[in-house]
Amino acid sequence: ATISAFQEAFLIWYHREKRQLPWREYRDPYAIWISEIMLQQTRVETVIGYYYRFMKEFPTIQDLANAPEDKLLKVWEGLGYYSRARNLQVAAKQIVTEYGGQFPKRVAEIRELKGIGPYTTGAIASIAFGIAEPAIDGNVMRVTSRLFGITDDIAKASTRKVFDAYVRDILSPVEPGEMNQAFMDLGSSICTPTSPDCQRCPLINFCYAYKTEQTTAFPVKSKK
Ligand code: ADE
Repeated sequence: ATISAFQEAFLIWYHREKRQLPWREYRDPYAIWISEIMLQQTRVETVIGYYYRFMKEFPTIQDLANAPEDKLLKVWEGLGYYSRARNLQVAAKQIVTEYGGQFPKRVAEIRELKGIGPYTTGAIASIAFGIAEPAIDGNVMRVTSRLFGITDDIAKASTRKVFDAYVRDILSPVEPGEMNQAFMDLGSSICTPTSPDCQRCPLINFCYAYKTEQTTAFPVKSKK
């Protein structure tokens, strides 16, 4: 498959600038899954230490499924949102009984696991399995609304599918996991909410909001 100038510029930037993070060293779906659950409500810098301790304590899906609850919660202590840890164990047991302990490979199967919504499904499917599935969160909506001039209201639940379609279109077929993570990194380092650093942005020549001088008008978000 050929890739567009946009995809090429973005991936080159990502490969040069990507943050070195422990879960980016692996393609193991279990390792990716644990990192994505921790990152749901916790900052990257906080997650790193917990991530190493968790993987040391519970190196496999079986270890997690069989862990005594008090030990599991002890390792999670300080991360908060303890339902995440309990859901992880429920899902680990699901994987052991329904998939013989092998992390499922299909999007619909991943989405069925306890504690895994559309964003985390997209992150795991793309990073661990190379499936071109979007991972849409607030950061990605900010970046792509500026890039494409998307004016749909991000406060509305129904807007997600609009972004899903745009991202799905540009994700395929190359390195979808790398591209999803490129969006995450761009949103956290350059395409920030109030003062995006457009002069350092690899997508400057492709960006609708930059071209029309209205970066901070995006994303469109109504007050509820
Ligand atoms: N936030 C959520 N998932 C992430 C990832 N894979 N890398 C960096 N930040 C993230």
